[in-house]
Amino acid sequence: MRKILVTSALPYANAPLHIGHMVEYTQTDIWARFQKMRGHQCWYICADDAHGTPIMLHARQKGISPEELVARMSEEHQADFRDFRIGFDNYHSTHSEENRELAELIYRRNLEGGHIVARTITQLYDPEEGIFLPDRFIKGECPRCGAADQYGDSCEACGATYSPTELRNPYSAVSGATPVEKETEHLFFRLQDFEEMLKAWTRGGHLQPEVANKLDEWFEAGLREWDISRDAPYFGFEIPDHPGKYFYVWLDAPIGYMASFKNLCGKKGLDFDDYWAEGSDAELYHFIGKDIIYFHALFWPAMLHGAGFRKPTTIHAHGFLTVNGQKMSKSRGSFIQARTYLDHLDPEYLRYYFAAKLGPGVDDIDLNLDDFVQRVNSDLVGKVVNIASRCAGFVTKRFEGRLAAELAEPELFQRFVDAGEAIAEDYERRRYNRAVREIMKLADLANQYIDEKRPWVVAKEAGREAELHAICSMGLNLFKVLIGYLRPILPGTAEKAEAFLKIAPQRWAEIGDPLLDHPIEKFKPLMTRVDPKKVEAMVEASKEDMAAKPQKPAPAEERAATIDYDDFAKVDLRIARIEKAERVEGADKLLRLILDLGGEKRNVFAGIKAAYPEPEKLEGRLTVMVANLAPRKMKFGISEGMVLAAGPGGEEIYLLSPDSGARPGMRVK
Ligand code: 2FM
Ligand code: ZN
Repeated sequence: MRKILVTSALPYANAPLHIGHMVEYTQTDIWARFQKMRGHQCWYICADDAHGTPIMLHARQKGISPEELVARMSEEHQADFRDFRIGFDNYHSTHSEENRELAELIYRRNLEGGHIVARTITQLYDPEEGIFLPDRFIKGECPRCGAADQYGDSCEACGATYSPTELRNPYSAVSGATPVEKETEHLFFRLQDFEEMLKAWTRGGHLQPEVANKLDEWFEAGLREWDISRDAPYFGFEIPDHPGKYFYVWLDAPIGYMASFKNLCGKKGLDFDDYWAEGSDAELYHFIGKDIIYFHALFWPAMLHGAGFRKPTTIHAHGFLTVNGQKMSKSRGSFIQARTYLDHLDPEYLRYYFAAKLGPGVDDIDLNLDDFVQRVNSDLVGKVVNIASRCAGFVTKRFEGRLAAELAEPELFQRFVDAGEAIAEDYERRRYNRAVREIMKLADLANQYIDEKRPWVVAKEAGREAELHAICSMGLNLFKVLIGYLRPILPGTAEKAEAFLKIAPQRWAEIGDPLLDHPIEKFKPLMTRVDPKKVEAMVEASKEDMAAKPQKPAPAEERAATIDYDDFAKVDLRIARIEKAERVEGADKLLRLILDLGGEKRNVFAGIKAAYPEPEKLEGRLTVMVANLAPRKMKFGISEGMVLAAGPGGEEIYLLSPDSGARPGMRVK
């Protein structure tokens, strides 16, 4: 029996999961379920990746503590995983005591080994928020092409990469303030100390060949020190003996794999060192996306090595998900959250579709929604489930729900059984697309068998009872084998099928055991066809998801301080009818409005001229005004109130309107 520890990348605790994430969790889950079916001791673990500046700022924006945000997200993530039947043996958090202890241990051992050094660096600092800004939180004009609003590390317009201090007219994406350069002491992990070890390790069969090649490019470019500290305020672990300095999120993120396992050890009485000590005979596999190879194939083995722990057996990278051939897009409705998918469709469909597409490489995979409907319906419903539904009724009605005592065609059954080892090898090597092809070929054979034997004809002829029994029993035995092979991909369907066949969850070695003289349950449909309307509804709902989101959080200086109810109640907001709207001689920005408050008239000057170049069109419409604003003397006359409008300014100003039914003079509350 092998001892296997499997991980998927830890999702950040500041955003919901989307179907792109589900590629990886499905891929890993299939692999872990397969290993368990083979009888190995296999643990599949994960956790939320809880630390870092984005999570800290996100919590701040929501007005809650990072701990609370992380707790809420963890619940959401776990519900999504559970409903997609991702069968983690443990789900933990990087913001945990186990992780703190392990991060400190790994840091200390590397420090003692001389692999961590302190240096003073200059970084951009937001003087309004009082925080050092990560590259992604600094924006400005690209130093190469001049494109506006580019991030601090790279330009989306021309693809240039640079350091944030090179941006022209930089500003903080958090507050809008101009960042200033400030000196600070940081701690660095000397990756270059591990060059020889890493070169040997990356060529030692622990990586996919194309990934190993990519690493050669990185070796050629030279390994550099890695900045592992961040200044307060930061949501993370404070570094021992360095008050005000925190471990960078990417230092303790992979250590979260160990922490989650340690947490599991506490629950199951497992031995942590058995899996993590140098020289351990357990196998350790990390499934990740191709964007985080650097962290997993260089920093991570180096940190582990420097701290005297074992290194991963294999790191397995996959590609990204495209939808209908394009990058997932919020406006097209193809940025589909896991929950939105689950609200409309059965997770088994997507698990199957991903499996049918996933190979061992780093190629991107495409979810073509038309192909998805067609493929699931034709393969799963039309081929696999169909075998059972064509045979089950006769067995129930004519043979008291009992299968025949012998197999009608042992050679055909054996052919199905013999295919098992090749399929197992495909699962083991993560060639799920090939496994699915093989299984569907067998499904075709099973259907062909039933087509040829025509049980529906046999059933109508007197004296052919035994034959009918034999055909249907044979069909259901072939179905049993197929469901066994598909079990890692379709755990929900397999469970239903096993209940129908009255068998325990199949282990791999039992797939070839035929069911003879065996009772079965009455057949209930195991899966319904994918309804294209539901797919459309899901896409529509994904468009709504985005509409519901604020476009961009208001910069801090635009957000007003909190007031209590009494302050709010002092503002007398009223519905007003715009009786007259006209330009003002000599004023660039102003319109003069005569507002009717249900009898009482007000003269108001409003700075909305650019947005309403034809002011007369405003006449007659209702809006909202502040009716108790003290009158203000202006160059062009006295303004007796203010109308309410939203937007950044200039042409983009939108007057508020009440719903129909509101009348001039009504109080707004
Ligand atoms: O890229 C990400 O989403 C990271 N949260 C993955 C972390 S994986 C591991 F290192 F923790
Ligand atoms: Zn550019």
